[in-house]
Amino acid sequence: MSDPTIESPSRENDRRILIMLTVFICLIAVVILVIAAIMLSLIISRNNDVDDDAKGSKLDAAVQDIDECETSIHSCDVNAFCNNTIGSYICTCNPGYFGNGKSCLDINECTTNVHNCDANAFCDNTDGSYTCACSPGYTGNGTSCAGHNCDANAFCNNTQGSYNCTCSPGYTGNGTSCIDINECTTNIHNCDANAFCNNTQGSYNCTCSPGYTGNGTSCIDINECTANVHNCDANAFCNNTEGSYKCTCSPGYDGNGISCTDINECTTNVHNCDANAFCNNTQGSYNCTCSPGYTGNGTSCIDINECTAKVHNCDANAFCNNTQGSYNCTCSPGYTGNGTSCIDINECTTNVHNCDANAFCNNTQGSYNCTCSPGYTGNGTSCIDINECTAKVHNCDANAFCNNTQGSYNCTCSPGYTGNGTSCIDINECTTNIHNCDANAFCNNTQGSYNCTCSPGYTGNGTSCIGKLSCLMYLKLF
Ligand SMILES: *[C@@H]1O[C@H](CO)[C@@H](O)[C@H](O)[C@H]1NC(C)=O
Ligand SMILES: *[C@@H]1O[C@H](CO)[C@@H](O)[C@H](O)[C@H]1NC(C)=O
Ligand SMILES: *[C@@H]1O[C@H](CO)[C@@H](O)[C@H](O)[C@H]1NC(C)=O
Ligand SMILES: *[C@@H]1O[C@H](CO)[C@@H](O)[C@H](O)[C@H]1NC(C)=O
Ligand SMILES: *[C@@H]1O[C@H](CO)[C@@H](O)[C@H](O)[C@H]1NC(C)=O
Ligand SMILES: *[C@@H]1O[C@H](CO)[C@@H](O)[C@H](O)[C@H]1NC(C)=O
Ligand SMILES: *[C@@H]1O[C@H](CO)[C@@H](O)[C@H](O)[C@H]1NC(C)=O
Ligand SMILES: *[C@@H]1O[C@H](CO)[C@@H](O)[C@H](O)[C@H]1NC(C)=O
Ligand SMILES: *[C@@H]1O[C@H](CO)[C@@H](O)[C@H](O)[C@H]1NC(C)=O
Ligand SMILES: *[C@@H]1O[C@H](CO)[C@@H](O)[C@H](O)[C@H]1NC(C)=O
Ligand SMILES: *[C@@H]1O[C@H](CO)[C@@H](O)[C@H](O)[C@H]1NC(C)=O
Ligand SMILES: *[C@@H]1O[C@H](CO)[C@@H](O)[C@H](O)[C@H]1NC(C)=O
Repeated sequence: MSDPTIESPSRENDRRILIMLTVFICLIAVVILVIAAIMLSLIISRNNDVDDDAKGSKLDAAVQDIDECETSIHSCDVNAFCNNTIGSYICTCNPGYFGNGKSCLDINECTTNVHNCDANAFCDNTDGSYTCACSPGYTGNGTSCAGHNCDANAFCNNTQGSYNCTCSPGYTGNGTSCIDINECTTNIHNCDANAFCNNTQGSYNCTCSPGYTGNGTSCIDINECTANVHNCDANAFCNNTEGSYKCTCSPGYDGNGISCTDINECTTNVHNCDANAFCNNTQGSYNCTCSPGYTGNGTSCIDINECTAKVHNCDANAFCNNTQGSYNCTCSPGYTGNGTSCIDINECTTNVHNCDANAFCNNTQGSYNCTCSPGYTGNGTSCIDINECTAKVHNCDANAFCNNTQGSYNCTCSPGYTGNGTSCIDINECTTNIHNCDANAFCNNTQGSYNCTCSPGYTGNGTSCIGKLSCLMYLKLF
């Protein structure tokens, strides 16, 4: 593509000064060395550098020349030509190099502006040469570039005598006008179903949708629940779903899952505590405690029979009466008090007894008893007089009369006897002169009485005795 034979004007001027200096030196040598004047002048005019050693040996070598170039005993640079001369040789740097022939360096044609690239081309220096490439938007061989009308997003392909434009991948059009292909809307992308496709100029990219992870062409669901990147409440279940997750409040809690509050089952009456139980709300639940007086697990409470279970505090002299959830105590008959403390009622002194008037009332613990008074018989509440006389339980003397009284009896000595009734002794009416025997009678005491017998000579019943003479007299009276 580049032409290394064409050199820049500045380089030619440098070379001309060098050549002129060399020609001046050589002309002096020509004057001295007349033998090879024509031959040497020809050589000097074409070469810029002559070796001093070669110069010195020219006269000696003229007779029998050795080709140093052929025999490789020269000291030319690898980037130089070796030209044999009579008796010597000349080193000349190759085109694209500069130096004295023994040491040659690459000429940077691009920076020293000795290239022939087009103004609309890039110059690229190479070892010993350079290359030219048309800038984008231009087409040509580099030394000659012409503007093309390919789109910025097209390849410009040079052809024989022309060029053509091909839209770059991701673009569509005739080359002179290329527009981006929206791979996303035309569905020619390879994004995952769970990815966003983002169209870019000439291409597209894939971004996994929220809740998915991956490189876009392959997206997998993020398990937010196990990865702990959810915002579910501490009292909620986290349920992973495709691309997302769901929060559900735990049983006993109410809310949207992100915020869950305890349900008070007790106040909202959604508990199953027994009617006879306390409902106690807890975090997420509740518990049931049977009310005092009831036993059970709380959901089912049954009355405790404190009376039979002997867990009551009724007085020993009280009745225990079980009730739903409790019990009550009633003092036994004969006792008074509140039931837990009962004291004996003294029916005798408080006159609430039913003893007979003729009975003794005897108070006992919780009751009393009635005992018929002496002289009476019965159960105490009803007492009847004992007739000691007929029942022969008296102690009257045999010679006494027994006289029953209410509750007792008395004894009266029979006539003719004297004493207190229980002991009676015969009265001797005869000696005590309380008889009525006639004066003319004999008094004869007997047990309980006496009898009178008319004295002899007298006749009569004893209480009245008349003499037998007297009888005559009596008759005389008549
Ligand atoms: C480069 O192209 C120009 C114009 O077509 C032509 O004149 C020139 O000779 C070409 N150079 C080379 C080295 O092909
Ligand atoms: C080398 O010498 C030969 C003959 O002597 C000549 O033809 C040729 O041009 C010379 N080359 C250079 C680079 O001077
Ligand atoms: C057009 O040129 C570009 C780069 O120079 C090349 O990659 C492409 O294959 C060429 N296209 C054709 C159809 O020649
Ligand atoms: C463009 O040029 C390239 C290289 O010469 C050729 O292969 C291709 O077929 C051309 N394309 C068109 C559309 O002419
Ligand atoms: C290329 O396409 C553009 C837009 O459709 C149009 O304006 C232009 O004339 C076309 N060029 C060629 C060479 O077909
Ligand atoms: C990618 O595309 C989606 C819709 O397809 C859009 O919501 C999102 O903002 C885009 N992202 C960027 C970074 O443009
Ligand atoms: C994908 O394309 C959008 C839209 O051009 C861009 O904003 C985003 O940075 C791109 N993302 C990546 C990962 O290249
Ligand atoms: C995307 O990831 C999948 C699975 O890891 C892999 O097979 C694929 O080569 C990746 N693609 C790119 C463009 O990295
Ligand atoms: C949530 O997941 C649990 C087990 O992890 C399951 O028992 C429950 O039915 C799920 N709930 C919903 C609403 O998907
Ligand atoms: C249970 O609730 C009742 C009233 O509903 C209350 O009196 C009782 O102290 C509570 N018990 C506990 C252990 O919190
Ligand atoms: C019932 O709940 C109360 C209040 O939180 C608590 O103090 C009590 O220990 C619980 N009782 C049982 C049997 O769990
Ligand atoms: C409570 O006790 C009742 C009756 O014994 C029984 O049916 C019920 O299952 C019990 N409930 C619980 C939670 O133990």
